[in-house]
Amino acid sequence: MLRIAVQSKGRLYEETMNMLVESDIKLSTSKRTLLVQSKNFPIEVLFLRDDDIPQTVASGVADLGVVGENEFVERQEDADIVRRLDFSHCRLSLAIPKAIEYPGLEWFENKKIATSYPVILRNFLEKNHINADIHVITGSVEISPGIGLADAIFDIVSSGSTLVSNNLREVEVVMQSEALLIANKNLTEEKKEILEELLFRLTAVKTAEDKKYVRMNVSNDNLPEVLSVLPSMHSPTVMPLATEGWSSVHTVLSEERFWEIIGKLKSAGAEGILVSPIEKMIP
Ligand code: PRP
Ligand code: ZN
Repeated sequence: MLRIAVQSKGRLYEETMNMLVESDIKLSTSKRTLLVQSKNFPIEVLFLRDDDIPQTVASGVADLGVVGENEFVERQEDADIVRRLDFSHCRLSLAIPKAIEYPGLEWFENKKIATSYPVILRNFLEKNHINADIHVITGSVEISPGIGLADAIFDIVSSGSTLVSNNLREVEVVMQSEALLIANKNLTEEKKEILEELLFRLTAVKTAEDKKYVRMNVSNDNLPEVLSVLPSMHSPTVMPLATEGWSSVHTVLSEERFWEIIGKLKSAGAEGILVSPIEKMIP
């Protein structure tokens, strides 16, 4: 049994639960308890505040955790990053009141900066030889300049709407952040095996995410041209249709070049193009 620590509510909760569901890990979410076991996979989910997740994993109370990179770097706990999860992207930035002119980093000299991330901020300021007064607060950092508690803030920026509604302006991006899967450094062999299976499933979901399954009908005369348009990496399946002289072509297309390739397929004579999502893809 592997225990994974997940944020109980907030920016990471929903996408983490989606990730587990897409990996076919079933959890009874009906009763909201602290610890929930899966019915079909040897894993149990421990719901915590995000700030507590790095330490919980480092100490071994949980074997795994899903945590924002910002929180993981700030806490300086000793755990392994086993996968960058590519969701909950945000950045940690310095922001100042909108009306103030910003000449560059030296503006922060002797200023008071409110933040919940003192470790990351201190490192950044030291590296840039800026002396500033770091004022640690745990919530509603963005209101501190408006109420005269600080000159500036250092906080998470995602859409940027919190800054806008507090008349603040982002002036320095200090670090980028995304969700991380972290693991305790001393997992038993048995736990490592379960982790491998989990990672395998995550890869299958991730690989399928930006891919589409595409079917089309092509007259055999047009077949060579249609096939030449398809990316050579995925050799397509070609099957005869009941109608003499026609074939059905099946292939997988990735999202980035999707519309470009569909356009070329149409002009090459592909008809009745059907596009379906792919749930999983095992490399
Ligand atoms: C962060 C941060 C801002 C907001 C920024 O709080 O403190 O309030 O998100 O997001 P935006 O740029 O999309 O407006 P969060 O919701 O993570 O809660 P927390 O501070 O309690 O962790
Ligand atoms: Zn938080």
